[in-house]
Amino acid sequence: MMNLTIVGTGYVGLVTGACFAEFGYSVTCVDKDDKRLEMLKSGKCPFFEPGMDELLDKHINKTKLISFESTIKNNLDNTDIIFITVGTPTRRLEDEADLSFVYQVAEEIADSIKKYSLVVTKSTIPVGTTREVKKIISNKIDQKLFDVVSNPEFLREGSAINDFIRPDRVVIGTDNQKSENIMKELYRPLFLKETPIVATSIETSEIIKYASNSFLATKIAFINEVADLCEVVGADVQQVAHAMGIDKRIGSKFLNAGPGFGGSCFPKDVKAFASTAKNKNINLSIINAVNKSNEDRIKKITGKIVSNIKNKSTICFLGLSFKPNTDDVRDSTSMKIASNLFEKGYSVQCYDPKAMNNAKKENSNLIFFNSAYEACEGASAIIIGTEWNEFRALNFKKISKNLKEKIIFDLRNIYIPEDLKELDFKYYGTGK
Ligand SMILES: NC(=O)c1ccc[n+]([C@@H]2O[C@H](COP(=O)([O-])OP(=O)(O)OC[C@H]3O[C@@H](n4cnc5c(N)ncnc54)[C@H](O)[C@@H]3O)[C@@H](O)[C@H]2O)c1
Repeated sequence: MMNLTIVGTGYVGLVTGACFAEFGYSVTCVDKDDKRLEMLKSGKCPFFEPGMDELLDKHINKTKLISFESTIKNNLDNTDIIFITVGTPTRRLEDEADLSFVYQVAEEIADSIKKYSLVVTKSTIPVGTTREVKKIISNKIDQKLFDVVSNPEFLREGSAINDFIRPDRVVIGTDNQKSENIMKELYRPLFLKETPIVATSIETSEIIKYASNSFLATKIAFINEVADLCEVVGADVQQVAHAMGIDKRIGSKFLNAGPGFGGSCFPKDVKAFASTAKNKNINLSIINAVNKSNEDRIKKITGKIVSNIKNKSTICFLGLSFKPNTDDVRDSTSMKIASNLFEKGYSVQCYDPKAMNNAKKENSNLIFFNSAYEACEGASAIIIGTEWNEFRALNFKKISKNLKEKIIFDLRNIYIPEDLKELDFKYYGTGK
């Protein structure tokens, strides 16, 4: 049986650890954040992800396959594979990925390896980074004691466990057969589900991750611009996207018009991909345009809201996480639009089923309520920013009794306009 060490217990590291424990591997999860470790040791997941509480409880308390440490220092004698799953945010005032966390872990590994281990980069990192990790480690220890592998992660927050256990593909980038064989053995439980394992060079693997995320972001930015045209000419972008998506060459996923892409991955990955290419004198002009289009969209949507409601009124904002089923508000379009509206003098009453704590930390000027109905009280407009299930069938008859004005901005197109118009709402969808 393999022993694994996972450095970084964020959305990716912890889900990876819990799912590998589910396959039967023994997993040590390492994080330098003491508060987070304390929560984890008491069996609590530090973030909301469906199914994680149960999986952690099972493998921390019952199978005891997961344990936690604050450092890898005394932990590598018995480890076969070390995963680096720390964050790679955008560098301040730049578009490049901040790789300082990754390189710090590489230094720590170099100081601690005692027996042969594979060092696997699972964080999303620009091409060339895994080789740099190799260089950092081999500055201190014999190259025979380790190999490096790139194994990017494709899970989505909100369905992370299922995505990890039933991925569309697993990508393994190696520079020798031995490491490829170890990685294939690690993922062997997935073969039974016939998951394609794509074995490539390290560089190809690193690029696959950025190219995939950038392509998905491109689909979103594309349909959002089509939505703008639909609005002006009286067409319906949902019907356009539906008919486009039936074409198998196009596919229906990631063709939902809305307020733009957000979250902890797409915005930073699109920027980092273009920036990596620029450093190599390659102009990813499409990706640059996607980034610009998406950044402009926040202003555009804010402008559309402001021009249709009275100055400095109270508005209700529903949904703050960057998508449903997560509490993650990093680079959330909802948070950006809600914050813009506050800056413009509106009083913003918010509600989100899971992301309120994170939202409060990010912007304490917003006013937080315990339900969608309470957040709507006294509002002159309702904005639906994130399509949580519980917003899909709100009782607007009940809500309208307590509204100042009946205006709704359904940024995610979850309602049928005619239904709301029947209740005398002014309805603004996206691209219709
Ligand atoms: N979140 C996603 O949906 C997702 C999906 C695919 C890939 N990724 C990529 O995976 C990586 C991790 O993302 P995340 O969202 O899980 O990050 P995160 O910010 O949620 O978690 C990172 C964790 O690493 C810890 N950490 C940082 N430096 C450390 C060190 N030296 N030692 C120990 N722990 C350390 C932090 O304390 C934090 O708990 C990123 O590169 C991201 O782009 C994320």
